[in-house]
Parts: sequence; C-alpha cells; structure tokens
Amino acid sequence: MNHSELDNLQTTLNNALNKLRIAMDRSMLPPLSSQYGNEMHPLDGLDQPTPVGVYEARRAALASVAELKNLLQHPFEKAAESTFAMYDFVTVQVFVEHGIVDRMAKEPSGISVKTLQSELNIDCHRLTTILRHLSACGWIRETQDGIFALNRPSRILLQGQRGRALISVPGNMRIAEALPQWLTHPEFRFSESPEHTAFQLANDITKPFFEWVKDDRNYLGRFAACVEALGEYVTPGILSDYPWQTCLNSTIIDCGGGKGSLAIALANKFPALRLVVQERGEMIELAEANIKANLDPSSVPGTVVAEAHDLFSAQPRTGDNYTFMLRHVLHNWPETQAVSILEKLAAAAGPKSKILIIERVSGHYPNTHVQLEHDLTNTTDITTSASLMNEKDILNSSSRIPYALALHLLCILNCHERTLDQWRTIISRAGLVVTGLYKLRAYVSIMECRVIGA
Ligand SMILES: C[S@@+](CC[C@H](N)C(=O)[O-])C[C@H]1O[C@@H](n2cnc3c(N)ncnc32)[C@H](O)[C@@H]1O
Repeated sequence: MNHSELDNLQTTLNNALNKLRIAMDRSMLPPLSSQYGNEMHPLDGLDQPTPVGVYEARRAALASVAELKNLLQHPFEKAAESTFAMYDFVTVQVFVEHGIVDRMAKEPSGISVKTLQSELNIDCHRLTTILRHLSACGWIRETQDGIFALNRPSRILLQGQRGRALISVPGNMRIAEALPQWLTHPEFRFSESPEHTAFQLANDITKPFFEWVKDDRNYLGRFAACVEALGEYVTPGILSDYPWQTCLNSTIIDCGGGKGSLAIALANKFPALRLVVQERGEMIELAEANIKANLDPSSVPGTVVAEAHDLFSAQPRTGDNYTFMLRHVLHNWPETQAVSILEKLAAAAGPKSKILIIERVSGHYPNTHVQLEHDLTNTTDITTSASLMNEKDILNSSSRIPYALALHLLCILNCHERTLDQWRTIISRAGLVVTGLYKLRAYVSIMECRVIGA
C-alpha cells in the first residue's frame, strides 16, 4: 500500500526533530520538557533570537505536526474542536483573571481544587472542569485526582509576562461574535471605513477604534500592553536579522512607535543609535515612562525621546539625517490611509533616507523577489532541505497566529493583510520603492524603501 502523504509527513517530522536536537546541542540548549519543568526554558524567553537552526527545525516540525493532525483526525472531532474553541480562550482568561495561575505557581508540585476553592472562593466542581480543560490544552497537568500543577508554557501567563498582556484585553469575544452580522450588515457590508467594523457593532458605538480607545484609560493601558507584547515577540528577529549599523549616521524616527519598546530595545542593543518615538498625544506619557524605566541608564541622555505627532500631518523631521521606521502601523489602515502616511514620509525623506516598513508579508515570496543588500547568512530562508513538505505548506501550517491576528485587525480596524505585490503597490503609490527585503526570524519582514529616483 502506498501511504505517500503519511510517509512524507513522518519523514519530514523525523528530519526536523533530528535537526532540532543537533541545533539545540550546538547552541548548548538544555533539553525541552513541557511538564516537570518549573522554570522557563531558554527558548521561551523573548529577549534573544532563536538560533537559526533551531528556528528552522522547530518551524518544520510544528508544520508537519499540524499537517499530521489534519491527516489523522476524524473530521467530526475537528468540527467539535472548532465548536468549543471559545472555551480555549475563556478558560485561560479565568485561569489568569481569577488568580489561579499565580496561586498555582507557588505550588510547583501541585495544588488541590479544594485548596483553590477555599482560597479563591470558586466552586471546586466548576474549577475541576475548567482545570481539566486547561489540562487537555496542555497548560497544566492533573498529577493526581483533583491535584493540578503548572506546565512549562503556563509560566508565560504569570504576572508581568507577555502572554498575560496578550490575553488581558477585554471584549475580544464580543467582537468575534459580531463578525457574522458584520458581513451582512446593510450599511457596513462593503464599507472600507474604520468606522464600519465588527468592533462598532459589538460595542454599539460609532467612533473608530483609536478614537474610542483614547477615552478609556483602562482599556488603553491593556491594549497598549498587548500591542507591546506582540511587538516584543518579533523584536529579537528584528534586532538580529537587519543590519542596523547602516543606520548609525541618521536618527531613526519610529512613527506610531507605541510605548517605544522597539526604539528602547534598539538603543539598548546598539548604543550609538539615536531614536525618536512619534505617537498620538495621549500615548506620550506612557512612552516617556517606558523610556525612563527601560532604557539602559548608562545611555547618553536623549538617546530615545518621545514626541507627539500625527501620522497624517506633515513630517517635521526632514532630510538625509533621518531614517523612518513603521512597525505594525500600516497594517492598521486601508490602502488610501496607508498611502497617505507613506506620502508624508516620502515628502520628508532625503535621497539617502531609508523608510523601514516592518510588517507581515503574507503568502510565499522567494528571496530573489528583491535584491538583498546584506549578508545572505543573515536571512532565514526556512525551507529545510531534508523536508518533504514544500515551503508554501510549511508557511500555511505555521501561519495560524498571523492569520488570526489579521482577522482580528480586520474586525476592529477594517484593515487587510498584504502580499508583497500589494505592499509594493501602496509603496509605489506613495512615491517610494522597495530597495531591500529582509526575511527575519519572526512572522514579520522588513521592507527597506527609498524615495523613487533618489
Ligand atoms: C499596532 S500599534 C504599533 C505600535 C508600535 N509601532 C509597535 O510596534 O509596538 C499602532 C500604533 O499607531 C498609533 N497611531 C494610530 N493612529 C495614529 C496617528 N494618527 N498618529 C500617530 N500614531 C497613531 C497607535 O497609537 C498605536 O500605538
């Protein structure tokens, strides 16, 4: 019998796991354990880039596991998993917001539901069902009947960890629920306006997302922390896989720079860089506090500063002395607004200025698409030679997070993910041209642009 699909996936998985083992040993990384490990593994940190070999092997292994599941799972089970997927999210929310994960962290060998009931005042029968669901999802494990302990991944949900920031934005379930209604809404169904999204329907409001956010300090703080966490997840790849030393002769303007976390990380890694975080007025206080708290205290004063600036106003920083950077900004806007933001930068940029667009480029694009300007060893062309899955399938199977993020942004802002050709259309409409494309160890890439004809 020819089991070619099964055989290919099995071989891909075996090859990827063998490569992972070798790459981890080469990088002197300790073995992985999802259970029985009370500490985070070095690969769980968000401060260092994942070594190239580990990154590639892990990606191929996870993609083949996802494909194997598609191949093996009964379709009814797949339907059932999707039907009840809302509880994947809600149980994690309960786990975090009711203090369960923080309490369990104090008992590495496990805690009984009875103890959790008496301390947290939550019914132990309900707790047991919730905790068993979390256990089936791999967050925790039931060590004995009614005794639960954390697994390694749940540490990302503890106080101060980035996974916690991600899950702590309220109201997302309501927005997702409004999606079907949005698609058939008489007025909104074909609208491109950020005022006509599932977000407005879910909250029964008319203001666009960013206008609404600024009036609610609690939501603003949580949303900014979530954006910061998503940014920090891709920061190590951004720092490692782009030649930042080419920007030393200019000041980098981080347009729509949020709380300034990328600017701070760049300055801490490359102390000779100078950066300005430009943001909406209401964000400046948050950015300044973040700079004060997290910029290396030995930095030269003024290494990173924050200033209020609207993306749609004329850019006051002009000429060759500036590099302009936009991370996770253009994806928030429909084409017309994205072009308008870039036009402001094209008008301000000198012939030598670079405009760095850090965004996800959806779909598969070969390295040869654009002339790469830097050392090829820096790039991560992820296709593992021993893999029998092609890069397109690996990409698809490892794109669940970026696709989900694109869907969420569509629902709150009416914006779209973009292929390389779609990015190039926007970039050229603004009078810019892509002069370099950098694939990173992250789900975003850097499109390096300059003014056309410069
Ligand atoms: C998704 S966040 C990205 C933040 C940051 N670049 C990062 O990567 O963490 C988009 C940012 O654009 C900012 N923004 C939205 N509209 C803006 C405007 N009209 N002028 C300046 N910034 C704006 C928001 O406040 C938000 O911080």
